[in-house]
Amino acid sequence: MNEHSARAGRLAGKAAIVTGAAGGIGRATVEAFIREGARVVAMDLDAPLAATQFAASDVIKISCDLGDRAAIQTATDNAVAKLGGLDIFVASGAMKGGTGNFLDLTDHDWDRYIDINLTGTFLSCRAAARAMAAGGKGGRIITVGSINSFLSEPDAAAYVTAKGGVAMLTKAMAVDLAKYGILVNMIAPGPVDVTGNNTGYSEPKLAGEVRDEVALARPGLPHEVATAAVFLAEDGSSFITGSTISIDGGLSAMIFGGMRG
Ligand SMILES: NC(=O)c1ccc[n+]([C@@H]2O[C@H](COP(=O)([O-])OP(=O)(O)OC[C@H]3O[C@@H](n4cnc5c(N)ncnc54)[C@H](O)[C@@H]3O)[C@@H](O)[C@H]2O)c1
Repeated sequence: MNEHSARAGRLAGKAAIVTGAAGGIGRATVEAFIREGARVVAMDLDAPLAATQFAASDVIKISCDLGDRAAIQTATDNAVAKLGGLDIFVASGAMKGGTGNFLDLTDHDWDRYIDINLTGTFLSCRAAARAMAAGGKGGRIITVGSINSFLSEPDAAAYVTAKGGVAMLTKAMAVDLAKYGILVNMIAPGPVDVTGNNTGYSEPKLAGEVRDEVALARPGLPHEVATAAVFLAEDGSSFITGSTISIDGGLSAMIFGGMRG
């Protein structure tokens, strides 16, 4: 993509921060934002960030552990200084995975998921919102919840509780930040194959669940989530705040039976 086409994109001239930028959805969001003309700071843990090559050479990498309260404000201040302001913030960074049956859920695992996935989202969004409010031009905050913000699944109490919290945090931020022109919305992915080649869903039990429980009978791909982030970030979506876009192939629309018959 040349400089001219980048300027002509739907996010031309915008400055964005994406957390979890070394992960599947975060990385696809960085790439989509760059294609649409934004300047982007990619945030993640040090090692995965260092190992990630973005298509554009001008993506700015800044390490930030979402479990480290002090580091979040410092990293955000650093990012905003490098970008010269902040228009868009995407909170995609999170720990995934199960923690075993509720009876066996440890204090340690509970604390880690709440600290990183919920408190880390709160602190990073607050730091971003403060920068946007100080800039006086409004902004867009996009949280990444999950289908698990609304529906549980076995052995995932800590993860789903944190994601449920992200859903209400999104609404609370939308209400409080409206007067600053900051619009806040959540993306709620269903199963998304972040390997990009379906290998994450080749395990027979998981593949069967996706076939039976997703109306489109396949996992989503990261770029199919990033496309919603671009939509929520662009100027045209100026009357959408406090909303959720589910990107789940119809999983939340049915009980079972996708693509059958
Ligand atoms: N892939 C899915 O099926 C799916 C479904 C629903 C929701 N989500 C959500 O989408 C978001 C992105 O997930 P993904 O699928 O791209 O997963 P991913 O594991 O590829 O990416 C998550 C990123 O978060 C980073 N991260 C983890 N702990 C961190 C910490 N303490 N500090 C900073 N960064 C940290 C990881 O390093 C990783 O790069 C997450 O919020 C996840 O909960 C994903």
